This record gives sequence, C-alpha cells and structure tokens, in this order.
Amino acid sequence: MVVEVTGMEKLCKVSDVPKATMKGFAVKGRQILVANIDGNFYSVDAICPHMNGYLPSGKLEKNEVVCPKHGARYDVMTGKLTKNVPAIMRWRPVVDRGICRRSGSRWNPTT
Ligand code: FES
Repeated sequence: MVVEVTGMEKLCKVSDVPKATMKGFAVKGRQILVANIDGNFYSVDAICPHMNGYLPSGKLEKNEVVCPKHGARYDVMTGKLTKNVPAIMRWRPVVDRGICRRSGSRWNPTT
C-alpha cells in the first residue's frame, strides 16, 4: 500500500540526527525513519514490512539499515530491500505406510 504524504511536514530538527545516525519519528500517525548519511538526510518508512520490526532500533551501516528482528536490510537512500530474511528450512517428507515423516536431512531442491 502506498500512502501519499502531501505538503511539507516537519520530521525533526537537523540536530536531532547527527551524521551516520538514524532516528524514528511519528508523523501524523506514520512512523518515519530519518537517516543522516554524510550530511544528507533520507527518510523511509520506519516499520519493516516483513514482521513490523522497528527499523530505527536496528543498525545503520553506511546507507543500509538492518532490521533488528530478522536482519533484512534496506537502502535508506532508495528504500529498496538489499538483503532479505533467510528462507525457511525445507525437509524431505517420506511417506511410509500411511504416515508422512520428515527425513533427518535437509532437502536440497537441486538434487
Ligand atoms: S521484521 Fe524485519 S526482517 Fe523480519
């Protein structure tokens, strides 16, 4: 869902977000992350779309914010996902005489 924020709304004071840091602000009921990268300011949604991690509580590494919940990474300059969360583990099911069991080894889908 894309929500347009119209007009110029105050996010924070420049002094609230020193260089190489980020901070979260609530603006009209929406959580916004503001990051200061080399003196340039960027703002993105503060809530991770995976499972609602609060991104300002994560780490800022150069221009990437790392979600504190599961480690997804977003470029604060573009808002793009740069590292997704790991895939869930797959196990090979074995059906034997009406019972479905999980084998003891991971299922490598390439084999
Ligand atoms: S909530 Fe952000 S990676 Fe899961």
